Amino acid sequence: MLLGLDIGTSAVKAALVRDGVLIETASAELTVLSPRPGWSEQRADQWWDGVRAALGKLQTPLGDVRGIGLSGQMHAALVLDSDREPIRPAMLWNDNRATAESVALARAVPDIGQIAGVPPLPGLTAPKLAWLAAHAPEDHARIAHVLLAKDFIALQLTGEIGTDMSDAAGTLLLDQAARAWSTEIAAAVQVDPAWLPPLHEATEVIGHVTASCADATGLPKGCPVVMGGGDTAVGAVAVGVTEPGRGAISMGTSGQIFVATDRYRPNPDAFLHAFAHALPARWFQMAAMLNGARPLAWMAAKMGLQVGAMLELAARADLDRIPTFLPYLTGERSPHGDPHIRAAFYGMDDATTQGELARAVVEAVAFSFADGAASFGAGLDDVPHLLALGGGARSDMLLQTIADATGVTLGRALDAAAGPAMGAARLAGVGAGALSLSDLAQQPDVADWFEPAPTPDPRLRARLDRYRALYAALKPLAR
Ligand code: XUL
Repeated sequence: MLLGLDIGTSAVKAALVRDGVLIETASAELTVLSPRPGWSEQRADQWWDGVRAALGKLQTPLGDVRGIGLSGQMHAALVLDSDREPIRPAMLWNDNRATAESVALARAVPDIGQIAGVPPLPGLTAPKLAWLAAHAPEDHARIAHVLLAKDFIALQLTGEIGTDMSDAAGTLLLDQAARAWSTEIAAAVQVDPAWLPPLHEATEVIGHVTASCADATGLPKGCPVVMGGGDTAVGAVAVGVTEPGRGAISMGTSGQIFVATDRYRPNPDAFLHAFAHALPARWFQMAAMLNGARPLAWMAAKMGLQVGAMLELAARADLDRIPTFLPYLTGERSPHGDPHIRAAFYGMDDATTQGELARAVVEAVAFSFADGAASFGAGLDDVPHLLALGGGARSDMLLQTIADATGVTLGRALDAAAGPAMGAARLAGVGAGALSLSDLAQQPDVADWFEPAPTPDPRLRARLDRYRALYAALKPLAR
């Protein structure tokens, strides 16, 4: 039996897999701290508490676990002191405070997009470390280690410090082509290379469950722990998006369009991310949308409705009366690289209904994915379809709107529910010797297909154009 652990932003998820079949999942919720506008933090000990709580909820006895794999939210800036204790809460992927540092880094290393796979963005690790140097020098002076979320869990499980290529990829400190830390970028953000963890491939065993961790969790002492990777890469492993030309679209708290590649293919102009994959000799290209499907939950909460009830209203809305919504609740990464822009409605009148507002939000989510798809340029031409993953993939209306707005066929995978936790269990299988790298290429069956309409509805195209024009109009106000 294999265990996958995913340290998400809203929850820790544990998945138990036997003979390739998901047998049980459990999760424990996490909270995000926002002590100031634009800040987004979590305490690392909450991640570890979450792991123990999720494990405690599993009914299956853990004594048979033969391998543990890890996945986690990417881009955190978690700094530890020389006793390996967190110095302060981790700054998360959607923390926007390091805007000035991001601009300064782009100036200091002009070809950083080519080296590190994406131009500087405040949510990535490196500018946040520079922010610490400038704004919390007393904390900065104590840094001995920099880790990502899942690396902190590896440390608790095994006592070992390390990270993998796909998570290192999201720090902006990795030379993606060389799969090695970039000393040039580290120097530009006042990071001592000695703070950076040793690099492993995601499939490598980093260590074994220690006696004290076995006592605290019920996991077998000595069980191998596989390094695992960043959640987008490991979520792709869960559905076999490991071979060049295979792609996925993930609609969760954040959103991604993800395509696996067999070489490093940077394309930083539209803030496309080109990162090392969670498999040796693989990379990926990714459009990363900060708001994903979250605006649906946000709007439903504002309307006092469940998401399902809101989507029913949206399905009945008059398509000639849909206002325009910009979904940028927390700024945007691909394709704008704009931490300042915020959400907006435009085009309402006295008669605008809840259903029309809800439909505007559904379309905005779809349009942000259409912009993400556009940032690939011709890069999606050879991708036959994208596997749809995450909570947003439950909505037929959203998937069909994305297919129509992007012109790309989407397939909803059967059993993609466990996402990155399932991918982590598959990686554990490789480290524990139960699976080969080629086994990871196995893909789930597709339950439902969403093809672009043969004759595109010109009204949808007009609303997409208006959406793009609204961003261009509002951008100068967002400072
Ligand atoms: C990926 C990204 C998010 C985080 C949180 O680039 O920012 O997916 O990994 O899940």
